[in-house]
Amino acid sequence: MRALVVYSSKTGNTKAIAEVAAEAFGRDTVLALIAEAPDYHEFDLVAVGFWIDKGHPNHEIQKYIRRLKGKKVVLFFTLGANPDSEHAQECLRNAETMFAGNEIVGHFICQGKIDPANIKWMRQMVVGGPRISAGDARWGQAAEHPGPDDLIRAREVFREISLRLQ
Ligand SMILES: Cc1cc2nc3c(=O)[nH]c(=O)nc-3n(C[C@H](O)[C@H](O)[C@H](O)COP(=O)(O)O)c2cc1C
Repeated sequence: MRALVVYSSKTGNTKAIAEVAAEAFGRDTVLALIAEAPDYHEFDLVAVGFWIDKGHPNHEIQKYIRRLKGKKVVLFFTLGANPDSEHAQECLRNAETMFAGNEIVGHFICQGKIDPANIKWMRQMVVGGPRISAGDARWGQAAEHPGPDDLIRAREVFREISLRLQ
């Protein structure tokens, strides 16, 4: 199986997960930043990684997702909130909708530390919203992610998908 892992990452959290995905999918996998992505038609599986911007996939990756059609896809993302939160589930639903016309064969969600320049703004989202409840947010915990346990979990999820598709 030939896999393409394409991702967008502003501060490195999603990049760390993309690197694990590329390793887990095997030797034939191509890992590419979105700006340098090769033609996806040449691949059996396309894994698309992004970060959450106000509840949705970040803008740069949205353009890519809209062009993607007729593929088996894995989506993965990082976000400031707890991956088990209702907010994270809403983000997943928002993302899945954008992948219409493809077959989603798996996903992975990981908490990711928030750029200090944006923490104030993120807290305002909680107070003013609450688009993200304080319990869901757990901003303090985000600083620890992605950590070693996240990378192990990511590897397990991507390996399982890879084995299932062989
Ligand atoms: C402008 C902006 C908007 C964000 N919106 C959300 C959000 O709606 N929900 C959330 O949980 N995290 C949000 N975050 C946090 C990022 O999704 C998170 O830090 C992510 O891991 C960053 O990934 P990266 O290091 O690959 O750029 C936001 C961050 C920024 C900068």
